[in-house]
Amino acid sequence: MHELGRRLAEALPPGTLVALDGPLGAGKTVLTQGIADGLGIAPREVTSPSFTLCRVHPGRTTLVHIDLYRLAGESDAHDAGLLEWLDDPRDALVVVEWFERLGRERADVRVRIAFAGTGVRRVSLTVPPAVVAALRRRPPAG
Ligand SMILES: Nc1ncnc2c1ncn2[C@@H]1O[C@H](COP(=O)(O)OP(=O)(O)O)[C@@H](O)[C@H]1O
Ligand SMILES: [Mg+2]
Repeated sequence: MHELGRRLAEALPPGTLVALDGPLGAGKTVLTQGIADGLGIAPREVTSPSFTLCRVHPGRTTLVHIDLYRLAGESDAHDAGLLEWLDDPRDALVVVEWFERLGRERADVRVRIAFAGTGVRRVSLTVPPAVVAALRRRPPAG
């Protein structure tokens, strides 16, 4: 999941909104740490923000990490100023855990993670065609 994040960081242009969904413990934060790694941000800086909904990490591209686990409703997101990041990621890579809780459809990239046995995850990726090409350009590590 970390390596997938690193590869996504290389393939995604700034201004991309990435929606991460999947059950608790699926690997959404690990994937976000991989994205951070790919942007030159120390992965351990990326934690599951228990009470903060949003953290901004400066890097090669700024990573905005949003975790909506504790989101009560869209007004919550409004209060926290999150909607601005969702509506306009600007030059940042905006990664949103528990995106489904927002009840919105629009995201540039959708990652759906499911458990598929101990240590194994099944990932469904929905990305624009240009990102498919960028992901194909480099073979998987190992
Ligand atoms: N293939 C895998 N990919 C990601 N995490 C995995 C994998 N196998 C086991 N794990 C473990 O699952 C947990 C995922 O946690 P986390 O990324 O915080 O999940 P989430 O953010 O989706 O709640 C970690 O403890 C990690 O070590
Ligand atoms: Mg998490």
